Amino acid sequence: MVNRPRRLRRNAQIRDMVRETRLCITDLICPIFVVEGSGIKSEIPSLKGIYHFSIDKLEEEVKEIIALGLTSVILFGVPNRKDDFGKEASSKMGIIQKAIKEIKRVAPELYVITDVCLCQYTSHGHCGILDNSGIVDNDKTLVSLGEVALSHAISGADMVAPSDMMDGRVDYIRKVLDNNNFMDIPIMPYSAKYSSNYYGPFREAVSSSPAFGDRKTYQMDSANSDEAIREIKLDIEEGADLIIIKPALSYLDIIQRAKDNFNIPIVAYNVSGEYAMLKMAVDNGVVSEQIIYETILSIKRAGATMIITYFAKYLATKM
Ligand code: PBG
Ligand code: ZN
Repeated sequence: MVNRPRRLRRNAQIRDMVRETRLCITDLICPIFVVEGSGIKSEIPSLKGIYHFSIDKLEEEVKEIIALGLTSVILFGVPNRKDDFGKEASSKMGIIQKAIKEIKRVAPELYVITDVCLCQYTSHGHCGILDNSGIVDNDKTLVSLGEVALSHAISGADMVAPSDMMDGRVDYIRKVLDNNNFMDIPIMPYSAKYSSNYYGPFREAVSSSPAFGDRKTYQMDSANSDEAIREIKLDIEEGADLIIIKPALSYLDIIQRAKDNFNIPIVAYNVSGEYAMLKMAVDNGVVSEQIIYETILSIKRAGATMIITYFAKYLATKM
């Protein structure tokens, strides 16, 4: 027999030498949930092992994140005030604006990405401004998104990540940032964001479930793959610096197609439902803990450059 593939699996050294995919600490983006109030570090019931932090508790958490070697975070806010227009999302003293400043005060070296959307801030829970028939008005929403992104940049965010799925938002936000001298702030849109049941635990964590209807008029149909390629292409043409595909695990095919089609960093979002399911299985001894590394590695192998994951801190302890 000439061909014996097992030769390269004979021991740990050679397996390590020929390994094709490696997970590095800089691949991981760590989500942080920030709430109003003080003295709060409380476990999120729908996301075991993940916490809500008030501003005064961020310092300790951020120091822990840095000590683990992680280099970037993405922020999600839970505001006190909601209205039909989500005005609080761009308030100077909004929860995210305060959180950015606090994180930059204690850890200027930590790379801070912000999720730009309205759904946590609107009383109806949709990702934009509604028209008279209850449908999200695309172009009105763009104006608000521009204000939110700008307010994050002014507060010191390093990168903005619009997750709303409105048409033309990258172009719009790019112009707003540029007109205000933030031409060096990258935009990382959620380009292929599917209407997914995997966001359930997140929506519980930030109370952003739509009060009526669903997000299907703006988020993508999970049956579609060509459409993801069109969406990504448009975002790149509009000036996206990186793109997000979300969720990750049930959409590995989309990640691979994006990798084959575009020369741009691809970020995969391993979302709340994916985390919760795996975490529950591990915590109940159904599968071994090693499955977490294997699962996150599969996202990188599919073509992701970086991964937003609630397992970031856990993985960092293993690396
Ligand atoms: C806001 C937003 C959502 C997530 C990230 N940003 C929820 C949604 O669109 O319903 C989901 C993240 C997760 O499930 O971990 N638009
Ligand atoms: Zn939203």
